[in-house]
Amino acid sequence: MNKKISSLLNEQINKELYSAYLYLDIADYYADQGLNGFENWFFVQAQEERDHAMLIRRFLLNNDEVISLSAISAPGFKKNEQKTPLFETLKHEQTVTASINHIYAAAFDDKDFRTMQFLDWFVKEQGEEEKNAADMIRKFELFGNDSKGLYLLDQELAGRIYAPPSLVL
Ligand code: FEO
Repeated sequence: MNKKISSLLNEQINKELYSAYLYLDIADYYADQGLNGFENWFFVQAQEERDHAMLIRRFLLNNDEVISLSAISAPGFKKNEQKTPLFETLKHEQTVTASINHIYAAAFDDKDFRTMQFLDWFVKEQGEEEKNAADMIRKFELFGNDSKGLYLLDQELAGRIYAPPSLVL
């Protein structure tokens, strides 16, 4: 594998672990607010992000590449400055999408079809994650300002169950 692509994939491991850390922080914020459904939703999301990191790790190992783990930054969610971290979630997912697209473009330039095929799963996953975040914002804007609506939305989000990724390496 081209060194640049290997290095970008290593960086992506860090970005996915940072995503897990960010969503764990948001889950903790909601736990503090007593919104256990929101907490559950973000806790499941944090687990999925960890899975994304592990998939990239496995892909690199399967291709005989060296893994280089680096420090994970503190989560960037500023609890006191925002009414809801949902906007931050969508913005963050858009950043991750751009990062995946950047690696895909590098793989395309290098005719690295194996990496492109691997990343296809992530391209689709990012589409789903952006949609999930946008849907959450829409629902929050519709129902979140009313205590009964917020209670029902919290109940709905409590139903999210963790499932391992559909991609197996
Ligand atoms: Fe793994 Fe939410 O991107």
